[in-house]
Amino acid sequence: MSAYAHYDRKLVFIHWLSAFLIIFMLFFGMLVLKRLPSDESKLIPLAIHMIIGLTILMITLIRILVRNMTPKPIPATTGNRMLDIIGVAVHYLLYLGAIGMGISGIGIAVQARLFQSVFERVGPLPQNFYIYPPRIGHGYFALALLALIGLHIAAALYHQIILKDRLLSRMWFGHKG
Ligand code: HEM
Repeated sequence: MSAYAHYDRKLVFIHWLSAFLIIFMLFFGMLVLKRLPSDESKLIPLAIHMIIGLTILMITLIRILVRNMTPKPIPATTGNRMLDIIGVAVHYLLYLGAIGMGISGIGIAVQARLFQSVFERVGPLPQNFYIYPPRIGHGYFALALLALIGLHIAAALYHQIILKDRLLSRMWFGHKG
């Protein structure tokens, strides 16, 4: 048996769904969306990006609610107090990063009138998104989120491979109780 209890199934599902969507969106945003010219070819990718982005924001808020309403496993420890504090801080910053991406994305959309140009096809796309302050924030939030995800994955692997405490099983399905 694992040394740890596990997270609620709803949280496990939301965790892996948001991990997949956020990582996809970070690469899609940096490698595809940002590089497209502001013409017809950008409308569908932008629509997909905005819909998934709003979905991530919504499921992150639902996740915080579910997290507060369901029993949590005992706090994980590495045996090093400093690392444990960093681990908890990274978890909170991940929530903040996901919410920051969503809110700054909405900020760009409102200022650049993207809900009209992308979904109603009314008005042109801006030639330069960086004239809108939330676009600058969106870029920095993306870099911060990428770094946090890197730290989060490194910590999970440290537990799994070095400490061998099977911590990952807390965030997986198939528990009998
Ligand atoms: C968690 C949710 C989101 C993630 C992970 C995400 C990710 C990204 C990334 C990585 C970029 C490129 C940033 C850069 O390299 O400077 C980007 C650009 C952008 N995102 Fe998001 N985004 C999210 C939510 C949203 C939302 C909700 C909207 C609008 C409703 C939005 C609209 C945009 C726009 C307009 C751009 C600029 C495209 C350009 O510069 O050509 N994003 N996003």
